[in-house]
Amino acid sequence: MLRLTLMRGVFLGYALFGALLLMAQNRSVTESVYSAAQASRGQVLYKAQCAGCHGNALEGTNGPPLVGGDFLANWSAKPLAGFVDKIQKTMPFTLPGSLSGAQSTDLAAYILQAGKFPAGQAELNDAALARTVFPTARAAAAPAAASTAGTSLPPPEGNLAELMRAIAFPNSNLIFNVQIKDPGKQPKPKPAAGPFDYAEWGASVYGGWLSIDQAAIALTETAPLLLTPGRKCQNGRPVPVDRPDWKRYVADLVEAGKLAHRASQARDFKAFEDISDKLNDACANCHKVYRDRGGTEGSGGTRCVPLP
Ligand code: HEC
Ligand code: HEC
Repeated sequence: MLRLTLMRGVFLGYALFGALLLMAQNRSVTESVYSAAQASRGQVLYKAQCAGCHGNALEGTNGPPLVGGDFLANWSAKPLAGFVDKIQKTMPFTLPGSLSGAQSTDLAAYILQAGKFPAGQAELNDAALARTVFPTARAAAAPAAASTAGTSLPPPEGNLAELMRAIAFPNSNLIFNVQIKDPGKQPKPKPAAGPFDYAEWGASVYGGWLSIDQAAIALTETAPLLLTPGRKCQNGRPVPVDRPDWKRYVADLVEAGKLAHRASQARDFKAFEDISDKLNDACANCHKVYRDRGGTEGSGGTRCVPLP
């Protein structure tokens, strides 16, 4: 009697374990994971809020493509829940956080449909999202990683626009400011004088000419990151790192950065009028060819494409 009960306990244990295994089992987006009605709702949202940057056919214009090999390589083997999260927390680019979870899921369903993954009967919901993954992309889809292997540069984390906003933008503006304000004559700001502001607080720690030294070093020494193989522009096109003119623009930026560093070390306020011009040219010469064609806002789809 006792023995039987024990046995049953063991069987029950197995059954429970089996159910857990089943729950944890992932399924692929290829397995008809969304409904056609859900994709239609997503399509309406897409046309209104996304097509302007990702293209009517999701081919990518200002933003990267949301169909095709590069897109699938980005999301290789990753959970669909993370994809919906990416949409909800960061898109539309200029109004993040404005979409509900349900809207973001509908958009994901439409993007899957546009990518030729089949529709099914059931709608995607939170529980289903958690165990649904993108297919594992074949190695051929990731040439970027391969070309990075031979160099000492780590593979890129951000796209080119993100790198520009992270390094070129703040540091060049610190230097441009020296056209009008002598860093040696600024009063040292008091920490925590106002609401938290990084620039204000940072200047109370490493301020005055030190901040100009640092900006010049940042621009000079990180310029080679503009040559990292495998980096993409925000429209999904590869940064043209192998083109001779691109390399020359990067070298010009390094030169302008070194000039700024020398003048900053000499605390030579007057030199910065000329240095600001040179630095501005180093940025603008490359932007004219690779960023701003088609207007000051840039031409989206033709960014990072060499002149014909
Ligand atoms: C103003 C332009 C703009 C709009 C509008 C916009 N996006 Fe984006 N999107 C971008 C840019 C730029 C990126 C690349 C930077 C990033 O990943 O954050 C991006 C990236 C993405 C990615 C990641 C792609 C990848 O391969 O990792 C997804 C998914 C996406 N957008 C979906 C959407 C959806 C859905 C909408 C509409 C609700 C939308 N976007 C609206 C500009 C835009
Ligand atoms: C070697 C070429 C090159 C140089 C040098 C360069 N940039 Fe850029 N920059 C670009 C390209 C191309 C883009 C567009 C990136 C994208 O769309 O992903 C860009 C984008 C930007 C952006 C993002 C704004 C936007 O419209 O997306 C800023 C800000 C920026 N650059 C500032 C600077 C500053 C300041 C300098 C000089 C200190 C500089 N860049 C030097 C090529 C360059």
